[in-house]
Amino acid sequence: MNLVFLGPPGAGKGTVAKKVTERFFLVHISTGDLFREAIRNENPLGLQIKSVLAAGKLVTDAITIEMVRQRLAKKDTKSGFILDGFPRTIAQGEALLEMVPIDHVVNFVLDESTIVKRLSGRRICKSTGKTYHILYNPPLVDGIDDETGEELIQREDDREEAILQRIAVYEKETAPLIEFFKERALLRVVDAQKTPQEVFQQTAELTGLV
Ligand code: AP5
Repeated sequence: MNLVFLGPPGAGKGTVAKKVTERFFLVHISTGDLFREAIRNENPLGLQIKSVLAAGKLVTDAITIEMVRQRLAKKDTKSGFILDGFPRTIAQGEALLEMVPIDHVVNFVLDESTIVKRLSGRRICKSTGKTYHILYNPPLVDGIDDETGEELIQREDDREEAILQRIAVYEKETAPLIEFFKERALLRVVDAQKTPQEVFQQTAELTGLV
């Protein structure tokens, strides 16, 4: 099954994608994770996009579409995948539908004040990418990753100015994809305000995974 997770920043797409891929053996492809990996590796792409991510803006369609095209060409995607954070513009949506068939687009719906609370409280383990929240999903020891013992960090784009920029970019560039996918009868809507387990259950039911 080929799925797209659509929704504003901080809606819980990554959290639920992790649960769905573990349970149903799909491949999780997060464009944000791929970009952050390039930045960590300091390769040419990483150096080019570092300031774009930090400012909460979008990487160009040309770069993003080509990166996804190469990732989807790998064999491990043949038994199904979740695209998390792609597409984010109409041009990316059109390119995607020419690349591969998509079964469902799950739209995570969440209000703006909750988005800000979730993103400003998010902490991550730099080496594993494991995500916590200081209130909703805290680590066992304050500020320390449960598994590696490393200090948790805040993503550079989870600071207030970048959060507001990301929400504005979402409204202008990404929200039009809701109508785009609705017109193609691919849109399924989940209430992302609920707990991660409830959102996981809604997603599994709406997509026919259970
Ligand atoms: P990306 O990494 O995709 O960021 P995003 O879409 O802004 O999404 P997030 O990862 O911030 O949020 P999420 O919905 O996954 O929430 P999470 O599960 O972590 O992209 C980063 C950047 O890369 C972009 O700004 C752009 O520059 C670039 N980029 C990426 N894709 C691109 C594209 N296609 N085109 C161009 N540029 C692109 O949850 C958030 C927090 O809430 C966590 O702390 C979590 O623990 C908590 N939480 C989650 N669910 C719940 C719940 N149900 N209840 C309570 N707390 C919860």
